[in-house]
Parts: sequence; C-alpha cells; structure tokens
Amino acid sequence: MDYKLEIAKLISIDDVCLEEILDLVMPAKDTAVADWAFPCFKYAKALRKAPNMIASEVVDNISKPDFIASIEAVNGYVNFKLSKLSYAKGVVDAACSAGTNYGDSNLGAGKTICIDYSSINIAKPFHMGHLSTTVIGASLYRILGKLGYNVVGINHLGDWGTQFGKLIVAYKLWGDKDDVNARGINSLLEVYVKFHKEAESKPELNDEARAWFKKIEDGNKEAIDLFLWFKEVTMRDVSKIYDRLHVAFDSYNGESFYNDKMQPVLDELEAKGLTKISDGATIVEFPNDEMTPCLLKKADGATLYATRDMAAAFYRKNTYNFYKTLYVVAYQQNLHFKQFFKVIDMMGHEWASDLVHVPFGMVSIEGGKLSTREGNVVFVEDVLDTAKARALSVINEKNPDLDNKDSVAEMIGTGAVVFGVLTGNRIKDISFSYDKVLNFDGETGPYVQYTYARCNSLIEKIAKDGGEIDYSTFEKPEAYELIKLIDRYPAVVADSGAKYEPSLVTRHLLAIAGQFNKFYIEQNISNSDSGEKNARLLLVGIVRDIIGSGMALLGIECPSKM
Ligand code: ARG
Repeated sequence: MDYKLEIAKLISIDDVCLEEILDLVMPAKDTAVADWAFPCFKYAKALRKAPNMIASEVVDNISKPDFIASIEAVNGYVNFKLSKLSYAKGVVDAACSAGTNYGDSNLGAGKTICIDYSSINIAKPFHMGHLSTTVIGASLYRILGKLGYNVVGINHLGDWGTQFGKLIVAYKLWGDKDDVNARGINSLLEVYVKFHKEAESKPELNDEARAWFKKIEDGNKEAIDLFLWFKEVTMRDVSKIYDRLHVAFDSYNGESFYNDKMQPVLDELEAKGLTKISDGATIVEFPNDEMTPCLLKKADGATLYATRDMAAAFYRKNTYNFYKTLYVVAYQQNLHFKQFFKVIDMMGHEWASDLVHVPFGMVSIEGGKLSTREGNVVFVEDVLDTAKARALSVINEKNPDLDNKDSVAEMIGTGAVVFGVLTGNRIKDISFSYDKVLNFDGETGPYVQYTYARCNSLIEKIAKDGGEIDYSTFEKPEAYELIKLIDRYPAVVADSGAKYEPSLVTRHLLAIAGQFNKFYIEQNISNSDSGEKNARLLLVGIVRDIIGSGMALLGIECPSKM
C-alpha cells in the first residue's frame, strides 16, 4: 500500500490539487508521535489563517479510514499515525507474495550500466586487492540487475605491456612447459621473479625482453602463441576463484583488445587541438594545471594504460550506449580516472559525466600472519582455503554429523571472507582477520547464514496448519520492529544501487538477522497457539527469503543446514 498517496488523498484544502499535497506529505520526524505529517504553513498567507488552524480544519474534514490509528493537528502539522495492524499486514502480504523477488523494481528499465570490475592482470597473482573489486563489482552487478538495469559486466584484463616480453625471455630461459601446464600462474610467477633478480646483474636481459615485446606487437607467431598461452593458463587458474566467488562476466575485453582502437581517439584529440608533444611524448594538459598532464604516448611511441582506457570508454559508448559506466577500482587510481574522464569531457563528449569511478579502500591483513608466497602479496586462493579449513574445523567440533560438510564449509568460509569485504563502507580500509569474519556471533556472514538455517529448520519442523492467521501478534514489539525492517528492505536495495554501496544491503541483512533472533527468543514459535503460530511462520518465511536472496546479491550462498 502506498501510504503517502493514500494519506494525500484524505487531505483537502480549498482547491489545492492532489499532486501538490502529495509533494508536501512527508515521513514524520519523530516516529514516536506520528508516521506521516502534512505541513500547513504554506497556506497561511492565502487563507489568512494560522497554520495550526488550517491543520485543525483538515483534521475535522477527514473521516478516519481503517489503516490510520489517529490524526492530530500539532504545531501547524497534520500528524498521521498508521494503524500498526494494517501497516504490518500490508508489509507482510507484500513480502510474502513477492517471495525471493521482494525488492525487485523496474527503476532501471531501458538503461544500460557497464561495470568494469575485477580486471586482473595476466600472469600476476590474484591478490587481496583484486578481491575487493571483484566482490564489490559483482554485487553491484546483481543489485543493479535487481533494480531493472541492463548490466554488462566487464573484466578489463591487464593483458598488455612490456612485462610480457620479460615473461617470454624468462620462460625461454628457465621455464618448463609441463610445469606451467600443471602449476599455472605460480610457475610463471617463479620465472618472472627470477628474471628481475637476474636482470640486476645482466641488463642485456631487458633488451631481449623489449625485443620480444616488439615481436608480440608486430604479430610474430611464436611471440603471440606464447602470449596467448600465458593468458589461457592465467584464465584457467582465476576461473577457479571466480567460480568459488560466484562471479561471472559478459566481456573479457582487456587492454590488448584496444590495440587497434586507440588511433582514432588520438586522431580526434589532435584534430581538436588538445594534444601537445613534450620531450617526444604525447600529452594532454589541463586548464589551470588542475592536474598533472595525462600521458597518452611515450617518446618511443608506446601507448599507455590511459590511452587504452580512453579507447575502451569510446568502444563501450558505441557498443552498449551506456547510461553509466562504473569503474570499480581502488582509490589509489583516483588521479588516473579523473584525468581521462576530464580528457573525454574536454573533447566535448557529454557522456564523460556518465563515467563513474567507484573507489574502495585497501585490505590489510591483521597481524600480518597470513601465509604468503611472494613478498607481502596475499593470494585470494590461500585466504579462501584457510577460511574454509577453519569453518570445517568449527563444523567438526559443533555438528560433526552434518551432511555435505565440505560444501557447507566452502559456503561458510568463502561467504565469511566475502561478507567481511562487503560489511563496511567500501571506501574504508579493511583490516582483515579470520577470527573476526568467522565469528558466528559477530556481524558476520556465518551469523547471517546461521539465521537462514534456523529459519529453514523452523519451517521444516513446524507445519503451518490450515487455520486462521492471527495478525494481531505482529503488534508485539519484537515482531513489529522486524516488520519495519522488512518494509525498508526494497528502499535499502534501491539506495545501495544508487550509491554503488553493497554494504547497505550487507548491514540491513545483519539488522534483519539480529532482529529476527530477538523475535525468535521472545516469541515462542513452536508452542504458540495456531493463529499466532501461523502468523509467526509467515515472518520466518519472509526472513528466510530476504536473507537467501539478499546474500545471493552479495554473492554468498546459504547452506540450508549448518
Ligand atoms: N588491471 C588494473 C589493475 O590491476 C585495473 C584495471 C581497472 N580498470 C580499468 N578500466 N582501468 O590495477
């Protein structure tokens, strides 16, 4: 029920139209006193009456409908208090009939949003920094999809650059085909690290690397074959992680895809008189030197990260005609995005303002005790494995007879890590700790999953009897607070989409789980009389569906038992 509208329809002042009244009806500031309020100040002058007098007349003219508990004139406002029962019943009916689609909307109908996320680098480890972009981007993909946008998930692979020349030299000197096939990225990484050590004393290795990179650029068959193979091996390894995180993409067009798409952009820039040659390099300077110039071509003619991003933005505009393109990338790259967005703006393309950098903070590892293979780089795979192993040992301790222990441990462990990344505002740095994310009583994934399993077992154990439903039980405080949170869920999903902030959903799920557990403790479900039991079971079902579908928005599965 659209209360705002229904309330607006009750109000009549002279010949003021419904639209105007609807505009003024607002949520009450003090929810203890009222739910909705209508201010009368605007009409004091025209009607030559004090605002509270107008409010009193409005009240006198309304015959109170059932969904309203009271109407009062207070300090120039008409205050409306909703009938708890009718409100609660309205929320419960809406949520029940929507089921797991509760919160869906068509807000984004007809609009396409491209989301550039994960965007890992070929032959480099999938480290914790890439975990954030991957899970934030993937949850925005699902949240915006739920809001009716047409979403395009893009993995802008880092698959270009001189490092591929180094990798070829390293592989030819020390690599082993079978080992690369067997151990994937780890094997490539070993020879790559060795290259850097050796090149310190043998600088000629760098010349060789440059020569091999040139061969890739020139399309030499051997060079291209090796390059494509490195890419394939990397993708094979990372796709295992993507599967565990339930992440997918619609496009893997990475940096190399734009090799032949940069020249037209550079030509347009030159034609518009925006480029400048500085020490042989091609740059774009900004008005009043507001930022350091954007470097688009080095003196040796090599294009750069920014040149590829420019070409990618044009390609996406032409291909998808996007409403927005989001770049889910760490805040360290703030300047890069500001620069190339501004360059596109200076070219006179209005859609430059539809390019949005969605930055996030750094993940550091509390206590620094995590297993690391290379320097300080922490591999996502190791983190997921460790979290899973810990979850399994908790299961073995608390519920050793559980079915499918291994897959439940995977859901809990991986879910805990993902939930941990998505709990705080994305811009905040995260200090990650296993104890924190796996605490079953904390603000964690396992806590929410546990609540889901609890709902499930209640539904399994207590059958609804076909009898009546005693809705008045919803007026009890624990149930009523829960219903208010259920009511807010669709708005929270919409807000998280508008702000590109999945943590709003995460924290609302925590609030719902917390309130559900209070309700569960206070209001005995199995032993209540039939009308109350039926009503309470409705709430259990709604909470299960919201948690299940809400966690899915975050990319987290919930085990039915745990
Ligand atoms: N591959 C880059 C990195 O790991 C991130 C790319 C982000 N996307 C983009 N269109 N620039 O730092």
